[in-house]
Amino acid sequence: MITSRSRRPAAGRCFLFLFFCTLSLDVAQSTNAIDIDTPIPIITVNTLAGYTTKLECDLQSSRPDDSAYLVLWYIESEKQPIYSLDLRARPLEQAKHWKNERLASRAQFDTSAASSAAFMLSNVSEDDDGIYKCRVDFRHTPTRQVRYQLNVVQLPRVPVIYANSARQYGTVSAMYDEGTDLALICEVTGGGPNLKVGWYRNGKLVESRVEHRMHHDYFYHLQLRSLSRDDHHATYACQLDLDVTPPAPPVLRNITLNLRMKPKKVEIIPAGPYLEAAKTQQLLCKATGANPPAVVTWWMNNIQLTSAEILVSKEENGTISKLNLTPAIEDDGRIVTCRAQTPLLDGGFVEDEWRMPVYYPPITNLVLGRRFTAEEIREGSNVYLECQTRSNPPIQRLTWMHNGKLLGNSRNRENRDIILANQTLVIRQIERQTAGNYTCIATNRLGESASAPLHLHVKYAPVCRRSKPLTVVVSRDQSIKLRCQFPLDVVERPRDDTATPRNVFRFRIDQHLVYTPRRDADFGELQCWALNDIGKQKEPCRFKIVKEGKSIVYRRLLYIL
Ligand SMILES: *[C@@H]1O[C@H](CO)[C@@H](O)[C@H](O)[C@H]1NC(C)=O
Ligand SMILES: *[C@@H]1O[C@H](CO)[C@@H](O)[C@H](O)[C@H]1NC(C)=O
Ligand SMILES: *[C@@H]1O[C@H](CO)[C@@H](O)[C@H](O)[C@H]1NC(C)=O
Ligand SMILES: *[C@@H]1O[C@H](CO)[C@@H](O)[C@H](O)[C@H]1NC(C)=O
Ligand SMILES: *[C@@H]1O[C@H](CO)[C@@H](O)[C@H](O)[C@H]1NC(C)=O
Repeated sequence: MITSRSRRPAAGRCFLFLFFCTLSLDVAQSTNAIDIDTPIPIITVNTLAGYTTKLECDLQSSRPDDSAYLVLWYIESEKQPIYSLDLRARPLEQAKHWKNERLASRAQFDTSAASSAAFMLSNVSEDDDGIYKCRVDFRHTPTRQVRYQLNVVQLPRVPVIYANSARQYGTVSAMYDEGTDLALICEVTGGGPNLKVGWYRNGKLVESRVEHRMHHDYFYHLQLRSLSRDDHHATYACQLDLDVTPPAPPVLRNITLNLRMKPKKVEIIPAGPYLEAAKTQQLLCKATGANPPAVVTWWMNNIQLTSAEILVSKEENGTISKLNLTPAIEDDGRIVTCRAQTPLLDGGFVEDEWRMPVYYPPITNLVLGRRFTAEEIREGSNVYLECQTRSNPPIQRLTWMHNGKLLGNSRNRENRDIILANQTLVIRQIERQTAGNYTCIATNRLGESASAPLHLHVKYAPVCRRSKPLTVVVSRDQSIKLRCQFPLDVVERPRDDTATPRNVFRFRIDQHLVYTPRRDADFGELQCWALNDIGKQKEPCRFKIVKEGKSIVYRRLLYIL
């Protein structure tokens, strides 16, 4: 260390000697010597402290047969050069470099390209501020000089951002409501005229208003009107660009906005196009675009469904709520609503509605046509039955059963007077055989259902149970007990008729006839006609009273009413 130091001044002295020789030589040889007092234009160079500044100096002569033989760098405040390059009798690559001890290792003269030889000074500080001059002496052409004003610039302080007057420390803002205004201020302290300050939105310069408040402080105002969805996650940067060589990265502070927003879209997603009654099914509601994630509630007919199971999953993009619903038949066509609301945000909510179709197997009810009374149906009249159905979707098929047998529109003898029309069963000229249990069965795609049986009573005039006469064998003066028989389901009613032939017995139908043949004439056929409010029995019940051991004698008919 010490030896190297002691050698340097010696080199300096040697240089000085050479220098003065050169100067005298120059003056002697050149006719157009330069005037050192002529002002040389100054090129300003701003360099950030700590960086390497580069000051260029052209070593090439304007004449091809000419060349530089001495290059000197000066700091104008100092008399002595700080750097020299001696090219006498040497090519550029072997030129002798000398530099001031103070600059030591920081200074370097890069002559690899003669036309843009560069004086490099590394790790510059404010102490290096000053005017730097390069002087190139050529053998034939006049001396050339370049001057640089070197300003060493300090890295400015990171600006301070205020959002609605609150100083921001992090890079993410507090929550601001969508639709409100936001005032951003960037406070820049210090910084010379070489500083360019601006607000950038997502990297793009936006116009701001500058206010110079105190001598060193500048305030850059950016007013954001009615924050919109687009501003969510937008980054606003207050950026300080330094006009320095070499270029340096900007100094900036940024803030990413965080907005409280209404949901953008709310959507009910049913599992299918309809629901089935009495089954638990899931409806999804997806609310997207809200920040923070929306709170989802379900409503039906303006009543909140609090009893339903609601599972909420908050994903990055929204809220999904799952409603397990067991609809009743009565819910068919009701409107189910999904409402999504951003917590703490005034200004309402966003909803989606679904008029839900509830499907169920048909509900059937079989009734007698409106004009008829169950007790008043009598043989020979026309009757119709109506199958009332409630069904969603509409019924596809309707079948009728009579006493467990399928009824058709067929033309066989039994059914000839039965017409199936839409949901009505028309029975024309009803017979007593047509009485019994009727059922209608309605079918839709969810299933089939049978109505409760309708028991149809058909009233008719009494008829005999037996089609053939009953033969009774008795002897004279023997009493027999006879009864005019008819089906039991005929309402019996005694009748008191006044107009009676002489040979007609009259008695109440619920009584037995006690008959005693006294003479031969009393043997023969007895006939009886029962009567109810529908009418008189058509064909009489017949009894053959035969005398024991004798051939049958028909003498008299006994009428029994
Ligand atoms: C740069 O210069 C500063 C003083 O100006 C000094 O403290 C620092 O050590 C230097 N850095 C280098 C790498 O030489
Ligand atoms: C915002 O600033 C932070 C910290 O200075 C930095 O890490 C981030 O990259 C910057 N973001 C943008 C978008 O400029
Ligand atoms: C959020 O939305 C974006 C674009 O709409 C999509 O690319 C991304 O996959 C979504 N993320 C989630 C978690 O759904
Ligand atoms: C009609 O239904 C009733 C009860 O539902 C039953 O007792 C009766 O036997 C049925 N009649 C016929 C003819 O099936
Ligand atoms: C069946 O119903 C339709 C519509 O309700 C009606 O137009 C049609 O006339 C009905 N048919 C009969 C045979 O009653």
